[in-house]
Amino acid sequence: MNSWLEKKSKLTPETTPVHVAIIMDGNGRWAKNQGQERVFGHQHGVAAVRSVIEGAAELGIRYLTLYAFSTENWNRPRAEVDALMTLMVKAIENELDEFIENNVRLQVIGDFARLPEECRTALQNAINKSANNTGLTVVLALSYSARWEITQMARQVATAAAEHKLLAEDIDDQTVASLLATRNMPDPDILIRTGGECRVSNFLLWQIAYAELFFVDKMWPDFRKDDLLEIILRYNARERRFGKTGDQLQSH
Ligand code: IPE
Ligand code: IPE
Ligand code: MG
Repeated sequence: MNSWLEKKSKLTPETTPVHVAIIMDGNGRWAKNQGQERVFGHQHGVAAVRSVIEGAAELGIRYLTLYAFSTENWNRPRAEVDALMTLMVKAIENELDEFIENNVRLQVIGDFARLPEECRTALQNAINKSANNTGLTVVLALSYSARWEITQMARQVATAAAEHKLLAEDIDDQTVASLLATRNMPDPDILIRTGGECRVSNFLLWQIAYAELFFVDKMWPDFRKDDLLEIILRYNARERRFGKTGDQLQSH
C-alpha cells in the first residue's frame, strides 16, 4: 500500500496540527555538497515548497508558515539576494494557478515595503487572487524577523498609549498578539527546522512559546511531504502539557 496514504490514515482531525511553521534551511550547503553555486540550492528548494504545500493541503492543515527570507538575510551578498528575489517572483507566478485550483490562500508576514517592487507586485497579485480561498493558508515570512515584528508591536502600543486609546493596565497577552503580523492566526503547533542547525534564527519568537520543536538533518531541497507527515506522527507521540502536570491531562 502507498505509504503516504497508509500513514495519512493514522491521522484524525483531532490529531492533525492546525498550524505548522518551517524554517527552510540548508539550500546553500545542499548545493555546495554537489559542487554547485548556492543559488542552485535555492532553485531546488522550490520543489520542496511545492511538495510540502501539497502535503499540508491533503492533510487538512489550516496554516503553513514558511520562513523564506529573514531580516538578517538582507546582509547576504547582493547577487544572492537578487537571485532569491527573482526566484520568488517566478515561483509565485508559476504556482498561482495551482493555489487557486487547490483552494490555497496566500498571505505574507514581514517588512513588505523593503522588498523589490517586482516582488511586491507578484505577491500582492497572488494575495488578492487567493484571498477568498478557504483551504490551506500559506503564510510566507519574507523580510521577516521576530524582533522586527515585536518592535513594530511596541511602537503601536506606545502610539496608542500616547493617544490615550490604550491604558498600560489593560495590556495583556491578547493585546500583544493582536498587534503582531500573525494576528488572526493560531500559534504554531509544530516548528520544523531543516538543515541540521538547532536554533530559531529570529523566527516567530512570541508565537512558538508552546510549539513542539523538530530539528531535522535533511537539507531543505531534499525535504518532501512524507517527511512532514513523519514529523506529524512523531508530534502525536508527544504530550503537550502547557505548564500542567501529566496527571491533570489524563483526567480530562
Ligand atoms: C535557506 O538556506 C534559505 C534562505 C535562508 C534564504 P540557506 O541559504 O541558509 O542555506 P545554508 O544554511 O547556507 O546551507
Ligand atoms: C534562517 O536561516 C532563515 C531562513 C531559513 C529564511 P539562516 O540560514 O538565515 O539562519 P542562520 O544564519 O544559520 O542562523
Ligand atoms: Mg542557512
